[in-house]
Amino acid sequence: DNRRQSGGKKVILAEPRGFCAGVRRAIEIVERALELHGAPVYVRKQIVHNEHVVRELEGRGAVFVDSETEVPDGAVCIFSAHGVSPQVRGNAAERNLTVIDATCPLVAKVHQEARRYARDGRTLILVGHADHEEIEGTFGEAPDRTVIVQDADEARQLDLPADADVSYLTQTTLSLDDTEEIVGILHERFPRLTGPGTDDVCYASQNRQNSVKSIAARSDLVLVVGSANSSNTVRMVEVAEDAGTRAYLLPDAGHLDPDWLAGVGTVGLSAGASAPELLVEQVVQRLAELGYADVETEVTAVETVVFRPPLGLEPPAARAV
Ligand code: F3S
Repeated sequence: DNRRQSGGKKVILAEPRGFCAGVRRAIEIVERALELHGAPVYVRKQIVHNEHVVRELEGRGAVFVDSETEVPDGAVCIFSAHGVSPQVRGNAAERNLTVIDATCPLVAKVHQEARRYARDGRTLILVGHADHEEIEGTFGEAPDRTVIVQDADEARQLDLPADADVSYLTQTTLSLDDTEEIVGILHERFPRLTGPGTDDVCYASQNRQNSVKSIAARSDLVLVVGSANSSNTVRMVEVAEDAGTRAYLLPDAGHLDPDWLAGVGTVGLSAGASAPELLVEQVVQRLAELGYADVETEVTAVETVVFRPPLGLEPPAARAV
């Protein structure tokens, strides 16, 4: 075990961590909409799954609602990064809402695939968590011909004929390892199955899982900054645990329990795709106070993906040219 070679206490920061391109874009969209339309602008659901981001935008005049049916007629309504079903779009149109769509382009791509499969008359197996907003949205593209599979057991028990014309799609934030297992089971059961492999799992989820796996191998404890309702963040905690390392989800520095650090030499630290870097900095500071002042960064990938806001909502500098 070479985990304690440094002798002292230290922190390994995972990179990439934190905001992905879809989250950056979604937050930027709310900020621009507030500038352009003035407060209030309504946002359906949490724009991204992070309490701190939501509180911050609320402070600037965003009003978060659970349903588009709560938005006053004719008001501005932003759809969250997780995407919405056609039914939600219909409701918004009926209420004459000015819709601004912050759906991550990589989620929108999965919706497009769902529509294509449905048009081709195929049965759609949607791999993901039924109660997650992204899956609610994707499911809504073809509710009559879609079944949801949440784990390997459900894949084994799925009640469809072996020769069915089936295709599968996945949630963008699943665990790569789980997805591979589930897709493997589906392929065995349905020879005519087609689908994207693990490609629906977005680049950001893949990179964050890979980096957390890598730091977990060198750490006695892994902390992943993010909110409990953030799917990609919870998957990162599981990846660290699967690597054999104790791991906790950490909403912010205030939730860091010093007892966790008993006997710990190296702390691995990362953050989910919806967690602001400020929260990571505060955890780094708290760890330094607790004796973990030595910080190194482990880079496992370099991310260059940028998603621009929709037309008319670009930053002022871009609008001028
Ligand atoms: Fe999009 Fe993946 Fe982020 S689907 S919102 S890039 S976690």
